[in-house]
Amino acid sequence: MVIIMNTGEIILAPMEGVLDYPLREAITDYNHYDYCVSEFIRISDVIFPGKVFRREVPELKNEGRTRNGTPVWVQLLGTIPETLAQNALVAVRCGALGIDLNFGCPSRMVHRSGGGAAMLKNPKLIGEAVRRTRDVLPAEIPLSAKIRLGWENPDDVYTIYDEIVRAGADKIVIHARTRKDAYKAEEIKWHYITPFADKGEVAIVANGEIKDRESALKCMEVTHCPNIMIGRAGVSVPNIERHVRTGVPKFTLLESVAALVHFIDIMKTVLPEQYQMARTKQFLGYMRMVYPEVNSFFRDICHQTSQHDIDMIIDEVLREKRPVFIVDKKEKDAAVPPESAQGPDNPETDVTADIQ
Ligand SMILES: Cc1cc2nc3c(=O)[nH]c(=O)nc-3n(C[C@H](O)[C@H](O)[C@H](O)COP(=O)(O)O)c2cc1C
Repeated sequence: MVIIMNTGEIILAPMEGVLDYPLREAITDYNHYDYCVSEFIRISDVIFPGKVFRREVPELKNEGRTRNGTPVWVQLLGTIPETLAQNALVAVRCGALGIDLNFGCPSRMVHRSGGGAAMLKNPKLIGEAVRRTRDVLPAEIPLSAKIRLGWENPDDVYTIYDEIVRAGADKIVIHARTRKDAYKAEEIKWHYITPFADKGEVAIVANGEIKDRESALKCMEVTHCPNIMIGRAGVSVPNIERHVRTGVPKFTLLESVAALVHFIDIMKTVLPEQYQMARTKQFLGYMRMVYPEVNSFFRDICHQTSQHDIDMIIDEVLREKRPVFIVDKKEKDAAVPPESAQGPDNPETDVTADIQ
């Protein structure tokens, strides 16, 4: 039975190096996300020409939508309110349907310039960035701020929230962990979101550790927040929005492999082969979190040196010519290829995850 859940918005999260244009195109074909947010674009003291935004977020050439019509917002990461605002305006003139400002990226590289989660130490500057951006954007273009609860102390979120609301943001996406918490599952603090959802002053979106319908329901129950953003599980469960909203089962292993083939087909139109191979392995790395059976062919795939050979293995899996089974723990450890060949099967320890 299909039960439509009383959710608000379900948003596909930004994921630098993962949810890029081809994967957004592929994933949105299986879901009805309210919108997706692009990977962050780093803003320094330069105002980029439109072509930079169109290159980074190709959906802007399609009126800011994926081919199936899902709106795409552009995310900016920086520290200078004026250049954030002016770049946001350029992105909107190129077709962005909304702007999100990133105040949550935990990457050390990004912090060196004071951006991302480092901004959480300076709530006033966050407020200025939001105010200036809101001032220059047309009224009909929504502006959100994506935050963590704080740098180290989750109680900092109260001040950060106040600054953002006073500055006139339309929405706040709250990843319910501090920067120090990194991606530790046990550190998720959904209950910090509840008072803000209860206030109803501004739209709130809850984010972090939503993996399936059950965890989505739990998150909504704890936070009182009907809007959710889904990141990693948006990749490991390619139909998660449908699963959460309507209760249809998660894709089976073979359905997910078919989604991977769809992703590969899109990649072939826009990415060179070496990226196709790396991204195929990365996708399988995410799938392994949900389907341990992937281990039975993951090592083989990681040893291939051409996309054609990878495609052949995937084809055998799809045609059920290759037995797919759950390997036991010992075998599984042996099946894990050298780190360089791995996708981010565990984003908490993966270098890619350290970026965010
Ligand atoms: C590999 C990776 C890349 C990410 N890139 C971004 C990014 O570009 N911008 C951003 O705001 N958050 C980024 N995030 C954080 C996610 O948007 C999200 O807040 C986080 O993964 C928690 O949600 P989840 O538990 O549903 O994955 C990234 C996370 C990961 C694992």
